[in-house]
Amino acid sequence: MYRKPGFGDQPDWIREYTSSLEFDRKIYSAVVLTALAHLFHLWEKGLIPEEAGSALKCLVEALDKEDEVLSGEFEDVHEALEAWLLDKAGKHAGWLAYGKSRNDQVSTALRLALRKEIIRLLWEINRLRGTLLGKAERNLNVLIPAFTHLRPAQPSTVAHYLLHVEREVSVHWRTLWYLLREVIDLSPLGSGPVAGSSVPLDRGRLAELLGFSGVEENTIFATGSRTFASLVLGSIASLAVALSRVAEDLIVWSTSQFSIVRLPDRHVSTSSIMPQKRNPVTLEIIRAVAGDILGSLTSFLTITKGIPSGYNLDLQEANNHIFGPLEKIINAIKVMADLIDDIEFREVRDIQLLAQDVAERLVKERGIAYREAHSLLAKALRENGWDLKKAVESLDMELPGFEEAINSRGRGGPNPERMSKEISSRRKLLRDDIGRLTEFESLKLSAERELVERVRRTLERKHIE
Ligand code: ARG
Repeated sequence: MYRKPGFGDQPDWIREYTSSLEFDRKIYSAVVLTALAHLFHLWEKGLIPEEAGSALKCLVEALDKEDEVLSGEFEDVHEALEAWLLDKAGKHAGWLAYGKSRNDQVSTALRLALRKEIIRLLWEINRLRGTLLGKAERNLNVLIPAFTHLRPAQPSTVAHYLLHVEREVSVHWRTLWYLLREVIDLSPLGSGPVAGSSVPLDRGRLAELLGFSGVEENTIFATGSRTFASLVLGSIASLAVALSRVAEDLIVWSTSQFSIVRLPDRHVSTSSIMPQKRNPVTLEIIRAVAGDILGSLTSFLTITKGIPSGYNLDLQEANNHIFGPLEKIINAIKVMADLIDDIEFREVRDIQLLAQDVAERLVKERGIAYREAHSLLAKALRENGWDLKKAVESLDMELPGFEEAINSRGRGGPNPERMSKEISSRRKLLRDDIGRLTEFESLKLSAERELVERVRRTLERKHIE
C-alpha cells in the first residue's frame, strides 16, 4: 500500500499503473537541477526563511543520489525527491512546493534533458557531414549512374551522390539547431500548474539560473504543450527516412547485380548456411530504425492529439516516446558514418547513360527541336536493339565522351570542378556550424555547473550547514 498525500491508501498496482518512476530516471538530474533553481530563487529573493537554505544543501547532494532517491514507492520523481528531502532536511523541505508545480517542473526538466540529447545528435550529424565531404573529395571523378525509377538515368559521380546525402543531413542539422535555440531553450519554470501563482517569482531569473536563453512566456503553453518535443521527433523521423533511403541505395548497389559498391567487411554478415553471402546487416537495421522512429512519432502525436489544453497525465505516457528515437537516430548516424568512410565505389561507364547527351547534340548540330531529336534517337535505338553506340552510328554521329558529358553539366550537377567548389563551401558551413555548436554547448554545460557552484558558494558565505 502506498500513502497518497492527503488521500489515504492506494494499492500498489494502481500506483504503478500511473507511475512515471521508471521513465523519470532519464530526466533525473534535470529534475533535481530544476528543483534546485526554484528553491534557490525563493531563497535568494527572501521569499522563504533563511534556514531553509539547509534544504538547498541537501538538494545539491541529491544530484548524486539517484538510486537512493528513486528507491521508494512513489508516483514519480517529484514526489520521491520531496520525500527524500523531507527525510534529510526536515520541515524546510516543505518550501520546495511553494510556487512550483510538477507541471512546470516536468516541462522544464524535459527541455533540459532534450537540450543535452539534441547537442549530442548535432555533433553526430556534423561528424557524418565531415565524413561525406571527405569521401566526396576523394571521389570527384569516379563515375556512377544517377538513377530514376531505379533505372540508370544519367552519368553522375560518387561526389555528386555523396553531396546530395550531405545536403539531406545538414538540412536536418539546421532544423534541429533552430528548434534547439528557438523552442527547446526557453524556460517554462515559474508557470505553476497552468496559470502561474501569487508567489512573486522572477521567471527571467529562473531561466538564467538553468542556463536557458529565455522564458517560454505563456504559462498554458509552457506547462501543457509538448509541441517542443513533437517538432524534434518530427525532424528526427524525417532524418531517419532520409537515412533509410541512403541505406536502401547502398543495399541495392552492393548486390552482385548492381555491384556499384563494396561494403566494408565489418558491416556485413554471412549466412549460417550459405557461405558466399555478404548480407548488408547494418544498413538493414538503419532502414528498420526509420520505421521504428516513425512509430514513436505516430505514438507521440496520437497520444497528444486528443488532450485538452493544460497538463493531463496522458503527457506522461507520451514521454516514453521521446528519448528512444534520439538514441536510435544517433546510433544510426554513427553506423552510417563508419560505413561511408570505408565503402568502396566501382566506376561504372555505361554508354547507355549518354542517350540524353546524344539527343541534345542532335539539337545543336541539326537545329531541330528537342522533341524531334528525342523521337529520332528513340527510333534509331529501337532499330538497333537499344544499343546506343550502333544507334549513334546509324545517325552518322559520334558518341560523346563521359568526361565531356560530365564537364558540360551546370550548377548543382556532377561537373567535378563545380563539385570541388561546392565541397569547399560545404566545408566552410560545417566549420561554422561546429563553432556555433561548441560555443552553445559550453555555455549550457557551464550554466549547469555554475548553478551548483553558485548555491554552494552562497551557502558557505551565509554559513548554512
Ligand atoms: N510525472 C508527471 C509527468 O512526467 C508529472 C506530474 C504531473 N502530474 C499531475 N498530476 N499534474 O508528466
